[in-house]
Amino acid sequence: MTTILAIESSCDDTSAAVLRDDRILSNVIASQKVHEQYGGVVPELASRAHQQNIIPVVDAALRQADVSSQSIDAVAFTRGPGLLGSLMVGVSFAKGFAQARNIPLVEVNHLQAHVLSHFIRRDDNTLPQFPFICLLVSGGHTQILLLRDYFDMEVLGQTIDDAAGEAIDKAAKIMDLGYPGGPVIDRLAKEGRDDAYHFATPAIPGYDYSFSGVKTSFLYFLRDHLKEDPQFIEHHRADLCASIQACIVDFLLRKLERAVIASGVRQVAIAGGVSANSRLREGLQRLGKKHHWEVFIPPFQFCTDNAAMVGIAGYYKYLRNDFADISLPPYAR
Ligand code: KG4
Ligand code: ZN
Repeated sequence: MTTILAIESSCDDTSAAVLRDDRILSNVIASQKVHEQYGGVVPELASRAHQQNIIPVVDAALRQADVSSQSIDAVAFTRGPGLLGSLMVGVSFAKGFAQARNIPLVEVNHLQAHVLSHFIRRDDNTLPQFPFICLLVSGGHTQILLLRDYFDMEVLGQTIDDAAGEAIDKAAKIMDLGYPGGPVIDRLAKEGRDDAYHFATPAIPGYDYSFSGVKTSFLYFLRDHLKEDPQFIEHHRADLCASIQACIVDFLLRKLERAVIASGVRQVAIAGGVSANSRLREGLQRLGKKHHWEVFIPPFQFCTDNAAMVGIAGYYKYLRNDFADISLPPYAR
């Protein structure tokens, strides 16, 4: 039996989790509210907030798990990619904790952690089997991945510019809906018509994506309509949310569907913050029924950034004795 303390601090969530083998004992997340007023993450403020949060969050995770720091066997931490100042806080904490107790350190790649969150064992889930395909969609990444093993991931397609979450957040910002905009757009879209407005998606070869044009055409569309009706956004908010969400999510699903069919793989997962989106979740369920795929949709708590996913990735590395050196620096990209 292995008990792992996991730390995630790559962006604006300070999180700590305790895992016993592949099960979670606790998963504490402190989301930083300070960025809301700026409409996006301010890196300098993020690192400061991590610094304030890290010790209380780890204490809470140990307490909720009812585990003493003496019984931790290894510390897993997100090494990158992410904001350097944010990563530094988690990396330094993990090193200090491991050094003080003379236990191994396990470095985790944030993207692998999102995907491997599907291997967190619960009473109500079955785990994916290799090979499977995962659409990883977050604020920083959009990739279709083929997983042959826990740490053997082939990129079948990816965005050539903005990430899907970034595009959704920017659309929300243009409509003055606050940050992060994904959850707000998702909620407002439920009251709107998804075919009210049409925003074109670019023709990109293969399984790659591009979202910067979508964002620009949304901006120009609004600029034109605001000339005629300065209250256009207020008058049509739900329809705008439903239409832009449909444009982005359906684009994600179209390419995913083609990539999965071409691969012959029959197990398909989604991961990352945007996998919390209701249209994406329903769309994948529908594709699963249509093609007889087995689909894996993460519980909400594992979609956006959290340390439990770092813990499960760390656990599989721990089993391989894949330990990190105390001198390892974090990496931004
Ligand atoms: O994985 P994550 O927490 O952080 C990164 O690694 O980037 O993803 C955050 C992203 C944000 O862009 C946020 O707007 C988006 O996930 N998001 C959503 C929803 N919940 C979070 N996007 C669409 N619908 C949602 N329900
Ligand atoms: Zn993430």
